[in-house]
Amino acid sequence: MNTLLLKDNEEDIKIAGGILARGGLVAVPTETVYGLAANALDGEAVAKIFKAKGRPADNPLIVHIANIGDIEKFSLVSEIPEKAYKLAETFWSGPLTIIMPKGKAIPDEVSAGLDTVAVRFPSHKTAQAVIKAAGCPLAAPSANISGSPSPTTANHVLSDMNGKIDAIVDGGECAVGLESTVITLALDKPKLLRPGGITVEEIENVIGEIDVDDAVLHELKSGEKASSPGMKYKHYSPKAEVILVSADDKKYIDFVNGKKSESTAALCYDGDSDFLEVKTYLLGAKDNYKAQAHKLFKMLREIDKNPEIKTVYARCPEPNGVGMAVYNRLVRAAGFEVINLEKV
Ligand code: TXA
Ligand code: MG
Repeated sequence: MNTLLLKDNEEDIKIAGGILARGGLVAVPTETVYGLAANALDGEAVAKIFKAKGRPADNPLIVHIANIGDIEKFSLVSEIPEKAYKLAETFWSGPLTIIMPKGKAIPDEVSAGLDTVAVRFPSHKTAQAVIKAAGCPLAAPSANISGSPSPTTANHVLSDMNGKIDAIVDGGECAVGLESTVITLALDKPKLLRPGGITVEEIENVIGEIDVDDAVLHELKSGEKASSPGMKYKHYSPKAEVILVSADDKKYIDFVNGKKSESTAALCYDGDSDFLEVKTYLLGAKDNYKAQAHKLFKMLREIDKNPEIKTVYARCPEPNGVGMAVYNRLVRAAGFEVINLEKV
């Protein structure tokens, strides 16, 4: 298959909408990461997403809308909980995904057999324009090969998906850089399933206390069931081994310099590079979690471009605010391998 490269102008967006309406696959920019979209109401089209990504069939997809009214218009959910209105009013359009009891229009391919559905209203103008041009809600996971870092540029998508999908709409670099915050309202008490650019504190300010799923910060024990199937897979991994190092500045620098070799690199904060004797990949300033979120996946892909690198020692962010999302992705990239030098 020849993958068409489209721009974010009116004419190309119409072409993208046409492909989607006919059951094709198009990668679309959003404010978080690029999504790989198909008509969410067409099970056959959605099945192609799983094939192109190599995604396990038990991992459900997020349904993207361009208008809050689309939820009722397309019978996406069976019930809109009161708290969903409050969250939507405050955070939509934007990087928050809300899980609700699923409606009759949702094919099993989207919900992976669960009785719930995840809904998101992205703020990216191009994403909204493509959804409108398609004339239907779009199911879209991140547009990477399953397991590799999510794409934040059209080039990232191209390197994973060239020849496997119908088209890519190039909308430039994604602003947030990691995937949306996912919260479920389908339980008695709302629960955060995946941290993102919208923080626990921001959500609690609107709907009161929420739970945080154990899998957000900890490895699931064998046999433990994931509330969000995506949480159980090793994720976001570059080809090199990533090891998280929890330490203050000096201990981190001494430790990494002690591992100096051609095949070692550091994924670190801006100020660290002056003191490190290995190749460095910068995440941003130590206290700037938003910058770190924006750069994390990009740096993991940069590391992949250098096949000499076999081991990456990454700084371990504090899991607070947006730092919780950075930590959540990094600890998965590291396969939960953390070296703790804090108390040594
Ligand atoms: O920012 C984002 O959310 C991006 C852009 C493209 O919108 N999409 C994205 O999709 O990250 P994906 O498929 O890579 O991640 C969706 C996550 C997975 O961990 C999946 O298991 C979870 O959401 N999920 C989806 N539907 C669910 C449901 N009904 N119940 C529990 N978890 C669900
Ligand atoms: Mg993904």
